[in-house]
This record gives sequence, C-alpha cells and structure tokens, in this order.
Amino acid sequence: MSYSTLLFENRDGIALVTINRPDKLNALNAAVINELGALVPQIVDDSGVRAMILTGSGPKAFVAGADIGELSACDPLQAETLSRKGSAVFRSLERCPKPVLAAVNGFALGGGCELAMACHLRIASENAKFGQPEVKLGITPGYGGTVRLARLVGRGRALEVLLSGAMIDAQEALRIGLVNRVVAADRLLTESVELLKAILENGPLAVAGCLLMVEEQADLTQDEALALESRRFGELAGTEDFREGTAAFLAKRKAAFKGR
Ligand code: COA
Repeated sequence: MSYSTLLFENRDGIALVTINRPDKLNALNAAVINELGALVPQIVDDSGVRAMILTGSGPKAFVAGADIGELSACDPLQAETLSRKGSAVFRSLERCPKPVLAAVNGFALGGGCELAMACHLRIASENAKFGQPEVKLGITPGYGGTVRLARLVGRGRALEVLLSGAMIDAQEALRIGLVNRVVAADRLLTESVELLKAILENGPLAVAGCLLMVEEQADLTQDEALALESRRFGELAGTEDFREGTAAFLAKRKAAFKGR
C-alpha cells in the first residue's frame, strides 16, 4: 500500500498506520480522508492484517482536527458533502471486523477526537489533549462528535465538552471514559501493541463477533439485541475454534485457533 499522507507498516499482523502531516499537526484534509477511506477496505481484506493501530506523526498531535484552511473555503453544500464523506469513512473504520486502536499521542481535537472515538479502543499518552473546539469556529462537529461522544461518556459530560469547546487532558479523558488507558508517551506504542496482541490470542471469530454485536446493538431494541447475541452464540458453538478453545481449556493447554 502506498499513500501520500499515511505511513503504513505491518508489524507481525498489526497494521501501524500513522497520519503524516506533522507540520499541520496531522489535520484532516481531503487527501487524508480519501486515503483513510481507501485504507479501511484494504485492512478488512488483507488476511495478513489482524488488527490496526492508528496514530499521528510527531510528538505533538494525534490529529488537530479537520483542516481549517480547507474548511474555511466551503460553502454549505461543500461542507455537508465534506461531512458526509468523512463520516462515512469513520463509520467504515468503526465497522471494521478487526480491532482498531487509536494511540493518541497528543492533540486529538475536533475531527481528531472524532477519529479516535470511531476506533474501538483508545490509549492516550500522558500529554494527550482532547476536545471538540468546533463551536469556537462557529460550527458544530461534522464527523460524528455529537453522536459518539454522548454515547461514550454520557449526555451531560458530552455537552460540557461540546458546548465549551475546551480541551481536557488525558487524565480527565480517562475519568470520563473517553479513553481506555493513559500511559507514558514513550510506552504508547508498546502498550498499544501489547493490548492488541493479548486480544489476538483469542478466537478470531469470537473477537470479530464481539465487535459486530456491540456495533449492531445500537440500532436494535434490547430484546432484539439479546436474540441476536443468542443466535451468534449458537453459530460460534459450531466452529472449530470453539471446539479447540474448550478442548484446550479442559486439557490445560494453550488454544491454537484457526479462525474457522
Ligand atoms: N487545520 C489546519 N491547520 C492546522 C490545524 C487545523 N485543524 N491545527 C493546526 N494547524 C497548523 C497551524 O496552522 C500551524 O501551521 P503553520 O505553521 O503553517 O502556521 C501548525 O499546524 C502548527 O500549529 P500551531 O497552532 O502553531 O501549534 P500550537 O502548538 O501553537 O497550537 C493547537 C496547537 C492544536 C492548540 C492549535 O493548532 C489549534 O487550536 N488548532 C486547531 C484546533 C481545532 O480547532 N480543531 C478543530 C477543527 S474543526
């Protein structure tokens, strides 16, 4: 894979994807959005990739938001088109059947906070800062901020972040549930890889099943979601991995999953 705004590296089945516009604090211009949009289906289809880490280039920023220069030139129709496009790309990331982890290495503002929230897991470095400063620019978030933030941290806390436009630090992000963990900056990638490796030890169909079910339940009633869970539970009980996982437990050995 070759991109102009993304760096891609496959580290033993974990794709390390770095948004690479450090001079603009990795702001999301059209090129980054297009390339992320092209990347996701490749990650999904690539059997050599089992999980993905998304991070930002340089010591300062994960992503400092949508590119304000580009945004400032938009008329209403162009702005809506931009928002729809970015939202669709973020949604495809959220629906990826392989675990996607945001390693937030600095500012995650506006579209950067929204991008991190579209990932399944978030680990922040101690210097990370989060926020949805769009109101300071006289606009609302356009890549899912009003939707995902409220779902992640609750309506009251989300509204404080959205309405104030103020930044919160990594510890506050941890306290309100916006991130899973906070680690020292020099441990960020190591801990991200370790968490994903621990996940990848598990049955791959079961991991994909958890991702899918947590994702799908948002559109279902509780009873529908529970029925879906039972159906998937039954389906997975028919897999070789289930036979292997249970047999390995009973034989007190490590399971060797094959993903079927
Ligand atoms: N869009 C476009 N360019 C951006 C950007 C963005 N969202 N965020 C930062 N940049 C650019 C700056 O314009 C600057 O470019 P320049 O060197 O060509 O002037 C460069 O990145 C470095 O940013 P700078 O503001 O000088 O760094 P700082 O450390 O003083 O401040 C921030 C860092 C994150 C506080 C500040 O850049 C900022 O507020 N960015 C915008 C955040 C935002 O509102 N995001 C939501 C957008 S919808």
